Amino acid sequence: MHRLTHVLLGCFITGAFFVMSISAYYVLRGQHLAFARRSFTGALVLATVCSIAVAFSGHRQAQNVYKTQPAKLAAFEGHYETGRGDLTLFGIPNPTEERVDYAVTIPGALSFLVFDDFTFSEGVVGLDKFAEEDRPPALIPFVTWRLMVGIGTFNIGLTLLACVFWWRGSLFNKRWLMAVFVVAFVGAVVANQAGWIAAEVGRQPWIVHPPVEWADDGSIVTGPDGVVAYDESVALRTADGVSKAVAAEQVLGSIIMFGLIYTLLFIVWVIVLNHKIHHGPDDIDEDADLQGDVPDGGLRGFFAAAIDRAGRRRSMTEAHGSKSSRGSSGENSGGDA
Ligand code: HEM
Repeated sequence: MHRLTHVLLGCFITGAFFVMSISAYYVLRGQHLAFARRSFTGALVLATVCSIAVAFSGHRQAQNVYKTQPAKLAAFEGHYETGRGDLTLFGIPNPTEERVDYAVTIPGALSFLVFDDFTFSEGVVGLDKFAEEDRPPALIPFVTWRLMVGIGTFNIGLTLLACVFWWRGSLFNKRWLMAVFVVAFVGAVVANQAGWIAAEVGRQPWIVHPPVEWADDGSIVTGPDGVVAYDESVALRTADGVSKAVAAEQVLGSIIMFGLIYTLLFIVWVIVLNHKIHHGPDDIDEDADLQGDVPDGGLRGFFAAAIDRAGRRRSMTEAHGSKSSRGSSGENSGGDA
């Protein structure tokens, strides 16, 4: 449920940033202004709430990962030695020397994150508790984890800043901020991909991770040689996950086929989207704005706008229906008359 919540929030963030990107583009070009401002504001509310929520859900998720896949969390943080957990902001993991080079850290912040420990000192299990062959690769989880959390933090700052300007009534005059929002959706897409890569590569060398045993004092249960002795009868190593039924060429063939189909779909999507963006919103909305039917300058609620829109559609359909029934059926037109 933690993972599902986190991923759904990531989807909402991406969708909201996407809407803000197109709206900001219209604002910069001075097109469809009433529509763009309204859609930007709605998406901004969603993006702000979800950007804050995803950090909380990610925090809970990290605690969950620590319990079920502690080597993954240690790899995320380049935490080699069991003990106080420092949070590394930047650095380059060096698995040979079992340290992070050029590390800039916040001392004890990992202990706080894992245990909500306000003493910033509680011991966090490090990679030293895992045999060499049971450790995830060092670089990819470390980098992708930072990318996701970094973009998530940036999104919180960006959306809150936009909310402040909106509150002051100057949001849409800040052209530099609109320009940032035009491209900021890329960050949301990258954060999703990075989170997924961190989760999958960080789980290696397992497809099905073995259970982890914890002692009552919170320490991890290890074997006689001081490292975790997993019960592999209830696990599956990635190296053992090779299908006996499907040949390598078949796998390659289907990857190429999916690659081509998705490339084609991507091209179609870009063309259709580009067309829609240049076409702009339906006339029905533009009419509403131009005729001054929006009393407060275009910042009405979604429901009012939707009801209004549905009403217009209905009256257009009815007008059209009565016109065509008069035209097509003599009986009906006689009856109507
Ligand atoms: C802001 C702080 C964030 C924290 C602390 C955080 C934390 C986490 C953690 C711990 C995982 C690993 C899950 C696992 O291995 O089970 C994860 C995965 C993931 N995160 Fe984040 N995250 C953050 C921001 C974001 C943002 C901004 C997005 C997207 C917009 C995002 C999207 C994802 C995705 C798609 C996954 C993969 C989940 C899966 O495959 O189940 N995260 N995140």
